[in-house]
Amino acid sequence: MNIAPRPAEAGLELATLSGFGNEFATEALPGALPEGRNSPQKVPYGLYAEQLSGTAFTMPRHEARRSWLYRIRPSAGHGAFRRIDQGLLCGPLAEPTPNRLRWDPLPIPEAPTDFVAGLATLGANAPGEALSGVTVHIYLANRSMERVFMDSDGELLLVPQQGRLRLATECGRLDLRPGEIAVIPCGMKFRVELPDGAARGYVAENHGAALRLPELGPIGANGLANPRDFLSPVAWYEERDEPCELVQKFQGTLWATTLDHSPLDVVAWHGNNAPYKYDTTRFMAIGTVSFDHPDPSIFTVLTSPTTAPGLANMDFVIFPPRWMVAEATFRPPWFHRNVMNECMGLVHGVYDAKAEGFLPGGVSLHPRMSGHGPDAATTEKAIAADLKPHKIDGTLAFMFETSQVIRPTRFAMECPQLQPGYDACWDGLPKMFTGGR
Ligand SMILES: [Fe+2]
Repeated sequence: MNIAPRPAEAGLELATLSGFGNEFATEALPGALPEGRNSPQKVPYGLYAEQLSGTAFTMPRHEARRSWLYRIRPSAGHGAFRRIDQGLLCGPLAEPTPNRLRWDPLPIPEAPTDFVAGLATLGANAPGEALSGVTVHIYLANRSMERVFMDSDGELLLVPQQGRLRLATECGRLDLRPGEIAVIPCGMKFRVELPDGAARGYVAENHGAALRLPELGPIGANGLANPRDFLSPVAWYEERDEPCELVQKFQGTLWATTLDHSPLDVVAWHGNNAPYKYDTTRFMAIGTVSFDHPDPSIFTVLTSPTTAPGLANMDFVIFPPRWMVAEATFRPPWFHRNVMNECMGLVHGVYDAKAEGFLPGGVSLHPRMSGHGPDAATTEKAIAADLKPHKIDGTLAFMFETSQVIRPTRFAMECPQLQPGYDACWDGLPKMFTGGR
């Protein structure tokens, strides 16, 4: 456990700590971190000690997540939260549908919209009050937040698709660009700033067990996402004694209270319950070197397990640039029906299973047991292809794969971006059967 250097000044590359789930220790002022005890009688610099628990106190040690925050004011000092308008966030769910669904990118509004106001919920597989399952949102924003947000319903996996984000969190700051992802722990306060203006991206709100790296089994000790490539921020704080709105998502509803100071006032912290980011270009993709290809679980970056061995509440899976070398093999993702539910997005480029219609910023939803796979045009081309080593390049697709059925919101079912003719992409798969009579 090392004390990190002070963070770089704004505008420079932000200093970070590396490693997944490490017990970090970092201070923005020398000596701010108490030595030897978590809650000393007097904290250096007159700070308050506050624990942020990400798991129950008594969870097994390898599951436990908590951080000690040393801050200018404790979080307890606030007035009552009041309900506020929540726009398209966690709107009513439509009835479950077995249909395959696909959406064009939702437009970024022209009216001033920050990250919180720009959250549009596409679907969820649990009611707002459940502490399992996943809710899928799109964020559509065009200005930096001036308020601060905390989500008491789950951790947030952010997948930017357009525009960079600066995440100013209680634990410090992270810069995020499309191609990178970030996870913000449940309950952590943060502000999203937009250095590029307009920004769009995907959010998986994970209500279940915290995301972690998947087990590697026979792959061995290295590969897929490597722990050292996960970056957490060093301590950073702002001392702003002026009104600041704190917005909280609680049981699927939005609440706000006004503080007389910025709650991003943590001068030092230690622990393993911290935000982190990951650059997907660091992902070591594994595929066949003979024939066929492995199940897409080989592309798992992070997983939220359930109590059933191998059954994920949610997997975060990416389809990054990679070489295809399989011999005598149908190379696109094969046709399949999956007991899991697949919600896919596209950050940039072209996804190798679809010739058209799946756009960067768009979404597809394939519920459990729905037949899907490459569209007719891709299938015809794949069967006719003269197979040579081929690189799929310039693309990043991903999947939130969940064990529970994702019910779309009424908004998602009624918005004009829902493609009415998605099923038609599998029209024209010819009957090629040559035997039987
Ligand atoms: Fe699939």
